[in-house]
Amino acid sequence: MSPERRTFYITTPIYYVNDRPHIGHSYTTTVCDVAARFHRFLGLDVFFLTGTDEHGIKVEKSAGERGVSPQALADENAAEFQRVLRMLNFTNDDFIRTTQRRHTLQVERFVQRLIAGGDIYLGEYEGWYDEGQEEFVPDTRAKDQEYKSVVSGKPLVRMREENYFFRLSAYQKRLDLLYENQPGFVRPEARRNEMLGRLRDGLADVPVTRTSFSWGIPVPGRGRHVLWVWLDALSNYITALGLGLESGEADLVPRDRSRFWPADYHVIGKEILFFHAIFWPAMLMALDLPLPRCVYAHSFWISEGRKMSKSLGNFIDLPTIQDYIDSFSLDAFRWFLITQGPLGSTDTDFARAKFIDVYNSDLANTLGNSISRVVNMIGKYFEGRAPEPGTHTVAGFDWPAQTDAAVQATIEAMSRLELGEAMGSALGLVRQVDAFIDATRPFTMAKDEAKRVELAAVLYQCAETLRIASVLLWCAMPDKIEQAWRMLGQNINPASGNLRDLCRWGGLEPGTQVVKGEALFPRFVDSPDDGRT
Ligand code: MSP
Repeated sequence: MSPERRTFYITTPIYYVNDRPHIGHSYTTTVCDVAARFHRFLGLDVFFLTGTDEHGIKVEKSAGERGVSPQALADENAAEFQRVLRMLNFTNDDFIRTTQRRHTLQVERFVQRLIAGGDIYLGEYEGWYDEGQEEFVPDTRAKDQEYKSVVSGKPLVRMREENYFFRLSAYQKRLDLLYENQPGFVRPEARRNEMLGRLRDGLADVPVTRTSFSWGIPVPGRGRHVLWVWLDALSNYITALGLGLESGEADLVPRDRSRFWPADYHVIGKEILFFHAIFWPAMLMALDLPLPRCVYAHSFWISEGRKMSKSLGNFIDLPTIQDYIDSFSLDAFRWFLITQGPLGSTDTDFARAKFIDVYNSDLANTLGNSISRVVNMIGKYFEGRAPEPGTHTVAGFDWPAQTDAAVQATIEAMSRLELGEAMGSALGLVRQVDAFIDATRPFTMAKDEAKRVELAAVLYQCAETLRIASVLLWCAMPDKIEQAWRMLGQNINPASGNLRDLCRWGGLEPGTQVVKGEALFPRFVDSPDDGRT
């Protein structure tokens, strides 16, 4: 592999270990997984990172309530997160845990550098604190929020502490410029506007150490001070690449990983945007490191029309996810998440009725049906061998141009992380095949021996278009598409990074054996008496 391949680095937030994995974590990780798979297939040098955020007062408290040590709680739940990653077939290249030595060692170094550079100084903080968010809330905002967390609704806590502060205010001008010169730094637009609002309000220095609890990385040489969890957690994006390591420490992180920085995408939920879009770039500026290209803050899933909450008991939790996977397949679940999910600026409802609609219309009636129809007709009329393309064309269908346009559109939308749009272009090809079959009626043509060459051309065009569409769709539904490839007689290895070559018109060899297989996505009929409708 040539060293100059373009890199693509994508990250999820690292998840708190005091929570069990649910739809929110699965969603962000699925978005990253689909983008990572697509870009690897495209031939880019990809690094996809996820992990767990294991320090902080929340973890310390949860552990206390359960009567276990914070490390034991972290070990247990980090293992659970890793189990779920495997269950959902994610292709993350590493899993970082903030209690790992490779991480803490580098964070200590970053902090020492920040202290030495005057970006971290000793001061005193008195004010409101949102414990669930691990976030200090300025007095005016605390009042507006009626002294409650906007996220959890729990009362804010009054804090008075001697703290080390990060000199965020010193980076105001550089951040203003960043937002001006790099309009795509925060996406989508609505989220960028929120951050512009925060910048207009003016930035105050941020307390970055705590003395009221001990479950954190100790600040080197500073007594009882432990690091505020956000400074610790955000650093994961660079400690996993070894950016804070010194020569001779290569055993902690493979040395050549530094090539992945800066990240292409930090994908996060909208509730943690300020940390990623204002605090983090300022910290990187202070460390003299390049800035990520884009912080993409998606919105939230709600459940059957209501905010998910423990009290309502409507969390789309792991058992619920498992149910969907058992009924519809993992790939159908991934498809629903990425084509219907809240990548945009509004929250999205996860509703069973909608899931069934999308499943039946996109997957059973379109993708699955189209592939089995075409494979069946080739089976019936050409003894299961892909026919000769010939030169016959049908007015209104310029397949080489149509497929090329869809391939370009998919690649382009993927590079913007607009996954729904990208998959819409790819599935659009399948819908065009259906329209083509309706227009040409190959089953009628087959009755007329004189139309044999024409029939061959039509079915070649169908199969070839489906082959190209399937290559584009693999990132979203790897298992099902690999099944489709077996039906279409294709031996494709996405690890070879040759997506563009595979998408060139004419790649389907005449004579290729196609095979009828099981229906990719059997139509789903909800039984009225299962109590779930
Ligand atoms: N540990 C911090 C992140 C540190 S990153 C340096 C954290 N962890 S978390 O476990 O609370 O995970 C939050 C993330 O889960 C959100 O940013 C989002 O990616 C995802 N989601 C949690 N609930 C969600 C929904 N209801 N819908 C969609 N995603 C949401 O914050």
